[in-house]
Amino acid sequence: MGEYAALVADAVIRQRAREAEHAARVEAELASKIKSEFIANMSHELRTPLSTVIGFAKLIGESERRHLSGEQIVEYASLIRDAATHLLAVINDILDISKMQSGRYTLDAREVRLQDILQSSLATFGQNATDLGVSLEGRIDTDVPAVRGDPDKLQQVFNNLISNSVKFTPPGGSVHVSAVALPDGGAAVSIRDTGVGMTREEIAVALTPFAQVDAGLARWREGAGLGLPIAKALVQLHGGMLEIRSAKSLGTEVAVTLPSRFQVSATQALSVMPGSSGNGMF
Ligand SMILES: Nc1ncnc2c1ncn2[C@@H]1O[C@H](COP(=O)(O)OP(=O)(O)OP(=O)(O)O)[C@@H](O)[C@H]1O
Ligand SMILES: [Mg+2]
Repeated sequence: MGEYAALVADAVIRQRAREAEHAARVEAELASKIKSEFIANMSHELRTPLSTVIGFAKLIGESERRHLSGEQIVEYASLIRDAATHLLAVINDILDISKMQSGRYTLDAREVRLQDILQSSLATFGQNATDLGVSLEGRIDTDVPAVRGDPDKLQQVFNNLISNSVKFTPPGGSVHVSAVALPDGGAAVSIRDTGVGMTREEIAVALTPFAQVDAGLARWREGAGLGLPIAKALVQLHGGMLEIRSAKSLGTEVAVTLPSRFQVSATQALSVMPGSSGNGMF
């Protein structure tokens, strides 16, 4: 009987080992797939603006032979500057993602007035919204408490969320930004638009680095699709939450909650980026 039990135990252990091996193989394959897609997308994002830089620099170099006017040369120089600025933004985003995944991302935290951050985002995108025929309004309660955080990073979060809403709302639509105090001393910010909206699957895609929901809308955007994943990770680094509610063709609401400045610990645990569960992409 003892021998039989030992045989069964052996068989169970062997079966478990096989299952564990299979699970590890599936996980490794998935990690490697995500990694190759990430690198393919990243190469594309870097190559496109670089081709612009090289192409127009070449044209300027041949300006005499090509009889370019001074105006054309100035225009090409500005295209080169735009492409290089975009390239720098993409590289900074990629470095941020890589730092977050390896847990090396640090916040320079202090007491931050959310009102100032939101007003600044609203001012930054006001003209852009007007140009696109989108009404952009803010209603920020006077009793919204200060939060503890990194002002530059929080600015980055709300700039991206508000620019997304403006970008993905057709002319005639509106974007509302509101901020209220929470009973626990924290703050809740909502960015609500009447734009193109997303399905549940599209929301998941949007939170994945480099994924853009609808390539057909490409003319609207210059971004690399890194803003939302980074925004969510940054909010979580602040001990907060970022949730997206959306309905196709009706609009999107992004709700950000930040904890009371008396509750946040110095660094928050971060396991938010795809692939951050131990298989960093770099
Ligand atoms: N308010 C919104 N309404 C509809 N779709 C949205 C909204 N916000 C984001 N999305 C979708 O999610 C995708 C990812 O957003 P994200 O901010 O990461 O990228 P992006 O704005 O395209 O580029 P980036 O922010 O890197 O400049 C967008 O390309 C878009 O398809
Ligand atoms: Mg964006």
